[in-house]
Amino acid sequence: MFTININNDQSFVCSEEETLFEAARSQMVKVPYACTRGGCGYCKVKVLEGQYKMDRYAKSALSDEEVNNRIVLLCKTRPLSDLHLEINQ
Ligand code: FES
Repeated sequence: MFTININNDQSFVCSEEETLFEAARSQMVKVPYACTRGGCGYCKVKVLEGQYKMDRYAKSALSDEEVNNRIVLLCKTRPLSDLHLEINQ
């Protein structure tokens, strides 16, 4: 289990087997989402620290430039270490 910190304010735990979205929702942590399938981009957040991997998503949901800037889709991202996320609310 990894610890996922949001804005130095809230945190939840997440394993490599679940997405950040699934883990946050199951622990009642509010995060942005809409389609939950990597299609809309509504769940974009920035990863300030830590390693992760992303499952397949629609190119229209996340640009290559965003990927290079460590922007991820919560509904398609799994942690490989503890993470520090920035979410604009
Ligand atoms: S909720 Fe639509 S891409 Fe994640």
